[in-house]
Amino acid sequence: MSKQNAVAAGKMTVPKFQAQKLRLNPENNKPLVCLTAYSKPMAQLLDPHVDMILVGDSLGMVLYGFDTTLPVTLDMMILHAAAVKRGASNALIVVDMPFSTYQASPEQAYTNAARVMAETGCSAVKIEGGEYMADTVAFLSERGIPVLCHIGLMPQSLESAGGYRAHGREEQEAAKLLREARILEEAGAFAIVLEGVVEPVAAKITAEISIPTIGIGASPACDGQILVTDDVIGLFQDFTPKFVKTYADIGRSISDAIATYADDVRNHKFPESQHCFGVKKARSA
Ligand code: KIV
Repeated sequence: MSKQNAVAAGKMTVPKFQAQKLRLNPENNKPLVCLTAYSKPMAQLLDPHVDMILVGDSLGMVLYGFDTTLPVTLDMMILHAAAVKRGASNALIVVDMPFSTYQASPEQAYTNAARVMAETGCSAVKIEGGEYMADTVAFLSERGIPVLCHIGLMPQSLESAGGYRAHGREEQEAAKLLREARILEEAGAFAIVLEGVVEPVAAKITAEISIPTIGIGASPACDGQILVTDDVIGLFQDFTPKFVKTYADIGRSISDAIATYADDVRNHKFPESQHCFGVKKARSA
């Protein structure tokens, strides 16, 4: 199905998203298209083209300039997710649960995820973590909160995982990733993000589980792809991971536009008469 047809088919839901797993859908061999957004204008631009918008906690680094995603709070995520929701009417909108808002217990995760759902109107939450999150995934999904899981390179536990690196190169780690994916599916996850996972392992997981895998730096073997939009359009310039393809240089366009505006103001070229308000002439008697 083309994206235009997808828009015509109406709003993306969790069951429709799941039904687009490639192996379950041989006549429609179209991977799921996913990107991040943190604001209403960006959501409006993405909505006609994507199946899922993730309000990622990457906003902590990309928008707020933190070194990691750890300082991001639930209140920040709720404000940004509500803005994104106001800009999108077709894509499935998923909200990242930030660090320390779901790891303590399934009850903590439920209280915070329920707040996200109620205050933003979004459709699902994403949590990072493997086998140890299975009880939480089951607790949330049994109570009506769809959960997107995230394994492999997990930005909220970069310190303990040894920084930015590919996952699944060693046999033991590959087996662990496969086990985690199976357990999270069993627990009720509706899809799984695989980040920084080597191709053969991503392919094996994708073939062995019946929910969609969404890759970021995890090869075309996945059922769908996700990237941080600001990376895709050249707006985040601190660093660009190997797995990113930059499709536009919006950072350069903004910089050029601002330089021209500054020149115009300094050289008395802006504002011109059409940008000014006149005074109405008084009617003669
Ligand atoms: O926070 C984020 O943006 C993410 C992804 C890009 C998967 O988790």
